[in-house]
Amino acid sequence: MTKKRLLTGLQSTGALHIGNYFGALKPFVDTCQNYDSYLMVADLHSLTTVRDPKVMRENIINVVKDYIAVGVQPDEVVLFKQSDVPEHTELAWMFECLVTVPFLMQAHAYKDKVAKGVEATAGLFNYPMLMASDILLYDAEVVPVGEDQRQHIEYAREAATKFNNTYGDIFTPPQEMILKGVGVVPGLDGQKMSKSYKNTIPLFGSKEDVQKAVMSIVTDSSGDRPENVFAIHKLLKSEAELTTLYDDNKGKYKFLKDALVEDIELLIASMREVRESITEADVKEVLEAGAEKAGAKAKAKMQQVRDMVGISI
Ligand code: ADP
Ligand code: TRP
Repeated sequence: MTKKRLLTGLQSTGALHIGNYFGALKPFVDTCQNYDSYLMVADLHSLTTVRDPKVMRENIINVVKDYIAVGVQPDEVVLFKQSDVPEHTELAWMFECLVTVPFLMQAHAYKDKVAKGVEATAGLFNYPMLMASDILLYDAEVVPVGEDQRQHIEYAREAATKFNNTYGDIFTPPQEMILKGVGVVPGLDGQKMSKSYKNTIPLFGSKEDVQKAVMSIVTDSSGDRPENVFAIHKLLKSEAELTTLYDDNKGKYKFLKDALVEDIELLIASMREVRESITEADVKEVLEAGAEKAGAKAKAKMQQVRDMVGISI
């Protein structure tokens, strides 16, 4: 039986946090063997916010190290960088010529980012069509993401349908895969954990970094249980274990935060060690192999698309 294709991506916009880990990376690592899996560094998407070339370069290298450190096996998964496969932007353009401005204006992610002060560039506006092309170029059927990306997968389905209805059936409408319970990992302030809200717990920070973040989790003195601490702790331990721990230590916020730090450390310590052993040369080698594999698939698909729209004369 042939395996279904799975694809996901992460923007290379900075250090990963545990929301990325539980919302995107862990579900990917846990399921990638069951699929023909593609994992992409969405560096072109990150150009919507990162303007410093030095930072861009470092971010790309770091995110590949992160992927490998959390357990991605580069010989079992096609691990590649979006910008190494120029067909992504070409296909995005085709979709942009099919979907309307009012349709794109409904994107929550776009509106949220602009509300948070991100410049409303044409790139940010067209972001969902580049993402649709990331998915559809490879006929990916399953896309593991966090809850916040649900609408973007709907956009990809719409792009596929529009193209299929206009030119003929070529794209498979993809399905999001959102893990129950970790769809939205809360941040230090109880809002969604996000780099842009500066409310994160770093995935590969030092123990001191993790400690600093955990100590600043906002707690509400009116209840017995520090809900924001508990909500993050739930990702690491069963509810039953935690209920005992929190009931036995009512009101001892410092103690409970320390317990959370220890549990995060248990998760991270071995991954941190693997990460430190990965060199820049390893990263380049992995990306070169990935670009070759992804590029071959994308080239073949794009040739079909060019034929269908009539530009290959
Ligand atoms: P951020 O919001 O920090 O900028 P990204 O937008 O780069 O994170 O998200 C990368 C991946 O991690 C996406 O699949 C996204 O849905 C997932 N993700 C990000 N934050 C969370 C969160 N708080 N809970 C669950 N998943 C998340
Ligand atoms: N937009 C996604 C995010 O911010 C990243 C991304 C880009 C992606 N292309 C993708 C995710 C394709 C899944 C599939 O998290």
